[in-house]
Amino acid sequence: MLEELDTLKTIALTAVSAAADEPAVEAARVEFLGKKSALTGMGGRMREVPPDQKGAVGAKLNEVRTAITTAIDEKKAALLAARDAAAVAGIDLTLPGRPAWRGGLHPLTQLQDRAVKILRGMGFALATGPEVETEWHCFDALNTPADHPARNEQDTFYFPNGWLLRTHTSSVQIRTMETAVPPVRIIAPGSAFRRDEIDATHLSAFTQMEGLYIAENVSLADLKGTLEAFYRALLGPKTRLRFRPHFFPFTEPSYEVDVELHLAGQPARWVEIAGCGMVDPAVFEAVCQQRGDRVYDPERVTGFAFGMGLERLAMILFGLPDIRLLIENDARFLQQFA
Ligand code: PHE
Repeated sequence: MLEELDTLKTIALTAVSAAADEPAVEAARVEFLGKKSALTGMGGRMREVPPDQKGAVGAKLNEVRTAITTAIDEKKAALLAARDAAAVAGIDLTLPGRPAWRGGLHPLTQLQDRAVKILRGMGFALATGPEVETEWHCFDALNTPADHPARNEQDTFYFPNGWLLRTHTSSVQIRTMETAVPPVRIIAPGSAFRRDEIDATHLSAFTQMEGLYIAENVSLADLKGTLEAFYRALLGPKTRLRFRPHFFPFTEPSYEVDVELHLAGQPARWVEIAGCGMVDPAVFEAVCQQRGDRVYDPERVTGFAFGMGLERLAMILFGLPDIRLLIENDARFLQQFA
């Protein structure tokens, strides 16, 4: 039986070392160590072994079992190592890793955040309104009658039910006054839409920021002081403003605001950046009618409103030659602001 065990050991070890993959190793384990294996069978034959040989045969049985078990474990480990090595073959593990991309805020978002921060510091609260608006909120309540050119189908995006994409954030003035009572001091940044051809200075979807301040005795001086303080905080303490008389249906008097731009290597020039004015009494009357009360009685309250295009402001602030840079999502451009 000792000889038989040695032969068995040789056969088993040869089979294990020849196993090419993990299923083959497992098959060898079942064959040589399993319940139905020759080795297990020989264990059962210990009874037949003469007493004086029992010790030697028993020791041999253990030796053979241990040898086969060890060979199988080593073979499994070797196959696993080979598989790992194959998985990284051709990869240089000493190369430095690729740095992860770090996101950054879009320049327009950065500008909006700065503008909002300044105006909140001056006591204005954030307000919002829907981008899909009624004609009433966008035009009628803002003293813009049905025959006004802004209401032309060619200038505005209408839905079949008569609603439209708001052409300015001034609709938020009305939305705010519908629900809040004076004093009201809000800013409303958001998207506005016009049927403009897209070119270096125009987009059909763009961003505005509206401002509205209603209380007793709000004056034109308050409007000028507020905008001056705002633009100086945003563009620099020496920034000069110019208020040019203008017309908006919903303010009276109305102005366009220009800032004096000093760009390196260029003569200073004035650029238009905002529209503004004192809220027209007709707007207050429309709001009073809608609310069914007189808290916005134009005999009691006055107010100012302003609105500015944030893309234009970004072009000035960042010296951009083309407004389309802000919507093209070209990482080479955007990275400069990250
Ligand atoms: N809504 C005007 C525009 O889009 C800007 C404006 C806002 C003018 C508030 C006066 C008061 O051009």
